[in-house]
Amino acid sequence: MSLKNMFDSLALLACFNYITQGTTNIAAKGTAAQTDTYYGTERYGRPEKAIDGNKDGNWKYNDHNSISLTVTMGAESWWNLTFPKPYFINSIVLWNRMDAASGRIDDLAVRVGEVLVGRVVYQHGQQAYHFDELGVLGKQITIQGSASRNMPVQLAEVEVFGGEVTLIPGGKEVLAESSSETINCTATGISRTMKFSWSGWESSDIVENDDFGVLNGEYDETSEEQVGKLVIPETAITEDNIYTCTLSSKAHQPSETMSIEVPLLVYKVECNDKIVYSGWNTIISCIISGVSQTAIVEWRLVSEVK
Ligand SMILES: *[C@@H]1O[C@H](CO)[C@@H](O)[C@H](O)[C@H]1NC(C)=O
Ligand SMILES: *[C@@H]1O[C@H](CO)[C@@H](O)[C@H](O)[C@H]1NC(C)=O
Repeated sequence: MSLKNMFDSLALLACFNYITQGTTNIAAKGTAAQTDTYYGTERYGRPEKAIDGNKDGNWKYNDHNSISLTVTMGAESWWNLTFPKPYFINSIVLWNRMDAASGRIDDLAVRVGEVLVGRVVYQHGQQAYHFDELGVLGKQITIQGSASRNMPVQLAEVEVFGGEVTLIPGGKEVLAESSSETINCTATGISRTMKFSWSGWESSDIVENDDFGVLNGEYDETSEEQVGKLVIPETAITEDNIYTCTLSSKAHQPSETMSIEVPLLVYKVECNDKIVYSGWNTIISCIISGVSQTAIVEWRLVSEVK
């Protein structure tokens, strides 16, 4: 291998790494299903053959047996993959059958939830069909037959590059007399900018909807996190409130969303300025009301009355 070739392959590696950055093939985390199975056999054409990690493009000959195939044809036929919860999905790759009948893949529709993310354009001899840079949250992927082509759905492999997303609530406890406060919501493990939206308040005379500020942080490649913030105006900090933070895709119409509750808990400190005599001791008191676990009372002598 020449030095030039070596650099070329390194560049290719870097490029491949960029496409699947922070993501792995998560297809096996889902359950595969399809309209029906070729000749109803137990052995050949089962839907899970498309997520068995085997991209072999040969039908059953020589016991390759790694291709899913429906009996139903056209728009009525489908293969789908259902995840137990929403995942971040950045890229879907369909691997074709290569020994015969390769054209069946033409015009298959690829959907994440209800959202159509692309259609296959068949090229003779091409084994992999990429649908990249999707940046969606999804729970179900459907590969649907084409109305214009009376063909079954046949797949050697379906790879789904993406990852798990976790939302962490960044709520807080604040003093009733606080000025505006910011709470947050952190999405971890995503590799593309998502959008945060918030709910949990109603407009009233003292607080308008647009008094609340929504800040969408950028995705941080190093920490693999994105932080969304909600700025709560002073006038809304009167009682305990639970806000809902919702994460959705920025690039596409959301297929799925994820939500979490973020509390803003308000406590009060009321001090009794009456002097209470108890023997030789004098007791003055402050009462902290609310759910505070963290409030600390400090005492300081301001002036001495002689
Ligand atoms: C797969 O998709 C089809 C067509 O949209 C639907 O009828 C079927 O219920 C789906 N399967 C599962 C397991 O959700
Ligand atoms: C998110 O909120 C938590 C809890 O209030 C806080 O400790 C953290 O610093 C906040 N993070 C950011 C990035 O604002």
